[in-house]
Amino acid sequence: MVDIERVPTGVSGLDELIEGGLLNGRVTLVTGAAGSGKTTLGMQFLYNGSASFRENGLLVTLEEEATDILRDMSRYGWELEQLIGQGKLAIVQSPIPFEVSQERVDINGLLDNIHQQAVKINAKRIVFDSIASLGLPYHDVVALRRDVLRIGAMLRELGCTTLLLTEMVEGEAKTTRYGIEQFVSHGVIVLYVTPTYRAIQIAKMRGTNHDMGIHRLRIGKKGITVIPGERPF
Ligand SMILES: Nc1ncnc2c1ncn2[C@@H]1O[C@H](COP(=O)(O)OP(=O)(O)OP(=O)(O)O)[C@@H](O)[C@H]1O
Ligand SMILES: [Mg+2]
Repeated sequence: MVDIERVPTGVSGLDELIEGGLLNGRVTLVTGAAGSGKTTLGMQFLYNGSASFRENGLLVTLEEEATDILRDMSRYGWELEQLIGQGKLAIVQSPIPFEVSQERVDINGLLDNIHQQAVKINAKRIVFDSIASLGLPYHDVVALRRDVLRIGAMLRELGCTTLLLTEMVEGEAKTTRYGIEQFVSHGVIVLYVTPTYRAIQIAKMRGTNHDMGIHRLRIGKKGITVIPGERPF
């Protein structure tokens, strides 16, 4: 039997649900509604990687300003700017134009940029936040789906352990914005939020005897904690 190498997220309670960690060098999709904790989980994975596991990390943000993310995450005591100064963390910021236009999003430029930065800092972990925000400027659904798949494929090829963040639209049956993100992912983690609780579920993790249950998740002073066994329903 070949053992699959695991990459610990370092998030308390999460790694034990997935046999010790994420699949090394693979892409795991994180999907959830607005405010469910996707960005926090992603940044905690990167922070723990460079602070505790000697794995440098790259954040790709299409959504929020890097400065806003750094400010919000500093509340958890994560010294991200220090890690950036030490070359252990890098950010690729590529705001997607909010106006619908005829112009194509420069996917080639974005992919080149990600590739260059990942090589430059020898990144082992990548967080892509988020694929859901890509769609605004597209008229053509086929072109959009093709570009979503291209980004996913490129992230797979890079061989870093990657969290690909996307969005679950409330009231819709499908678990991801475009319904295709799962095809480029080896695992799927779902985050839930209601007015009274937060929860997490491992929906898919190839080659892993993972827990299928829904577990309570808290966001506290030090970020996310998962409480295995505590079922919110
Ligand atoms: N310092 C903090 N302590 C406790 N909870 C916090 C703190 N900062 C933020 N939160 C909670 O985390 C939520 C935001 O989490 P996060 O930004 O990771 O979600 P998200 O899924 O990325 O949201 P979006 O879809 O808007 O990008 C906030 O709405 C708030 O409830
Ligand atoms: Mg977010």
